[in-house]
Amino acid sequence: MILLKSEQDLKVMSESGKILSGILQEIKKAVRSGITTAELEKIADRLFEKAGVESAFKGYHDYPASICTSVNSVIVHGIPDAIAIKDGDIVGIDIGIKNKGFFTDTAETVAVGQISPAAQKLLNVTREALAMGIKKCVPGNRLGDISWAIQKYVEDNKFSVVREFVGHGIGISLHEDPEIPNFGKPGTGPELKSGMCLAIEPMVNAGGWESNILGDGWTAVTKDGSLSAHFEHTIAITEKGPVILTD
Ligand code: MF3
Ligand code: CO
Ligand code: CO
Repeated sequence: MILLKSEQDLKVMSESGKILSGILQEIKKAVRSGITTAELEKIADRLFEKAGVESAFKGYHDYPASICTSVNSVIVHGIPDAIAIKDGDIVGIDIGIKNKGFFTDTAETVAVGQISPAAQKLLNVTREALAMGIKKCVPGNRLGDISWAIQKYVEDNKFSVVREFVGHGIGISLHEDPEIPNFGKPGTGPELKSGMCLAIEPMVNAGGWESNILGDGWTAVTKDGSLSAHFEHTIAITEKGPVILTD
């Protein structure tokens, strides 16, 4: 069942989204060659505490950390560790919080120092694919319109969309209905309505779309070892069109 949020709910989620995007900006500032992803997590923890918000991820299905850090060929759900990131890497930072009863979720893949033109194109296409999906978030459209817009843009640019992980409704829970695949057919699926809150999150591989899960049970990597990028926003559908809550 797709839950609709009230004006009041949206106010709280918008406030939370602003806090969350502010925290992501702070974490991004700390990204540089030599820092470990565990140190980035520590920074996030301090920022969560300062803002009086709770990590949405820690303990979620026993996830062991408070943020996800996904380096290079890691698609999503990378667990922060003691390995230093280095010049030329791309690092997906996915953060989510619970605040005043509501969840928000956002992610961005950032460049460490100088990255290759191919990696830069992957980041640009994935960021733009998210924007394409968000544009479709207007009442009266169908869920498949979002999926198709993302898939088309990515494949036109000769990259592939991950199949095993999807976007999702969000609000009272981190993951609510509906699931939002990053591939699909226009004009299909549930009708989009004012009051829906969605986390849209294209995961894009430079090579094939297939993935594997590492032995830790979480880390999703590209099967062919190619680079992968991930961008995510929590948005609200309103009569006036999409509102990005995590902007
Ligand atoms: N943030 C992820 C998503 O975008 C979910 C992370 S769940 C965790 O939906 F347990 F891995 F943290
Ligand atoms: Co996320
Ligand atoms: Co999400």
